[in-house]
Amino acid sequence: MFPLIKEILASNPSQADSSGLCVRGWVRTKRDMKNLVFVEVNDGSCFRSIQCTFDLSKDEGKTGMAETLAALGTGASVEITGDLVPSPAQGQTVEIAASSITLTGDAPGEEKNGIPPYPLQKKRHSLEFLREMPQLRARTNTLGAVMRLRSRLSWAVHQFFQDRGYQYLHTPIITGSDAEGAGAMFRVTTLDLAALAGGKKPDYTSDFFGRESFLTVSGQLEAEAYAAALSRVYTFGPTFRAENSNTARHLAEFWMIEPETAFFRLPENMALAEDFLRFCLTTILNECAEDLAFFDERIERGLIAGLRSVAETPFVHLSYTDAVKELEKAAASKTDLFEFKPCWGADLQSEHEKFLTEELVHGPVIVTDYPKEIKAFYMKMNSDGKTVRAMDVLVPRLGEIIGGSEREENLNALEARMESLGMESGHYSWYLDLRRYGTVPHAGFGLGFERLVQYVTGMANIRDVIPYPRAAGQLP
Ligand code: 4AD
Ligand code: MG
Repeated sequence: MFPLIKEILASNPSQADSSGLCVRGWVRTKRDMKNLVFVEVNDGSCFRSIQCTFDLSKDEGKTGMAETLAALGTGASVEITGDLVPSPAQGQTVEIAASSITLTGDAPGEEKNGIPPYPLQKKRHSLEFLREMPQLRARTNTLGAVMRLRSRLSWAVHQFFQDRGYQYLHTPIITGSDAEGAGAMFRVTTLDLAALAGGKKPDYTSDFFGRESFLTVSGQLEAEAYAAALSRVYTFGPTFRAENSNTARHLAEFWMIEPETAFFRLPENMALAEDFLRFCLTTILNECAEDLAFFDERIERGLIAGLRSVAETPFVHLSYTDAVKELEKAAASKTDLFEFKPCWGADLQSEHEKFLTEELVHGPVIVTDYPKEIKAFYMKMNSDGKTVRAMDVLVPRLGEIIGGSEREENLNALEARMESLGMESGHYSWYLDLRRYGTVPHAGFGLGFERLVQYVTGMANIRDVIPYPRAAGQLP
């Protein structure tokens, strides 16, 4: 395979194979200085571009190089051959003394043949502007760095779980069950919507699966079945939520990692979540220094120091009841601190999460034992009959990054809970089988992958950390 720019930049000009190299990529900038032309080429393999220097006085118009270079605009795709030499310029150790250039396509600097100029000229573009062109935005410094970190993090996820005896499980995308009970699911149907427009209730028995079906909101229930066979499993796949929340941390389509562990109770589950997050941060700190330095400088000042401190410090644990007490105390001492008054029984708002992580503990906090009313049906009840063995991991800047729990493994308790919520137990009979046959204590959690990428990059909007964001009203 031909070398990537990352490899060329890391090699040594004195090596035997440093002459006659070919650089392939896209032009970032071009500068002229008398007979010298400097072209910066980037191929996305690393943050840096490589400088290719053309000496036109040596070419003397023989190869048409001057004409090609004159026509070269930002975004042009090129193949440049030359020798790797030490660079006299600041900020780079090597450059290419170029001897030939081929344009593999076109990148008009001005409107040509009805094609508008390349939209990403050399200047800073707003992230909102870039969001309108997901097909081109990966060619910018910011999105390129995000996607490299995203890729490395995906690998870290597999490394972490595979090294601990977890089997990678592919759970279905299309499902008949609502795993979270949040009621925000996308319907999957082959029924003719136009024919139904008359206002009649659709007959789902004539639909593709003979019953109602949806895109999954979580692979957890299926993962529980496999944890009861393979002991330790994890999923890593797309999940869907039709939440109409237009926030900087919600997507309609996002990737989730869900480990599920047989014979685990809540404390072991919390320790796993903490180890997992720390492993991800350490990997990125050790292996993506160049991209991280960019985020630290341009996106979120102090990012690296913050991540390092989280990677090294044990997380604070707080019960929901204690968290609410702290919030009430803070609200009493400063009346306009919160828009939403904290009160036992209500979900924590993002302003409350922000206070807990950024003001109270100055780092991540795991909140446990939430009121049963605000959590999903499958969570294990505590002996108080009011709270469940839930855990949310909250981090500064972002709030909830992980949600999980110990599961109710007792058949009678689970049936009673489902009945009190009015759930159709017929649909969940397969799930109850796991409690009928060889039931064991077990626990798991879900990490929103884009929230993790947001956290390590400092990117403010979740739509800028996934290649093609899908959110309410947005399908470019
Ligand atoms: O807290 P959630 O809803 O938990 C579950 O789905 C459980 N089944 C997980 C489990 O125990 N196996 O979602 C888990 C995580 C959240 O903490 C958040 O990071 C992320 O998924 N998440 C979203 N990320 C982006 N956009 C959305 N709309 C999200 N909703 C949840
Ligand atoms: Mg949650």
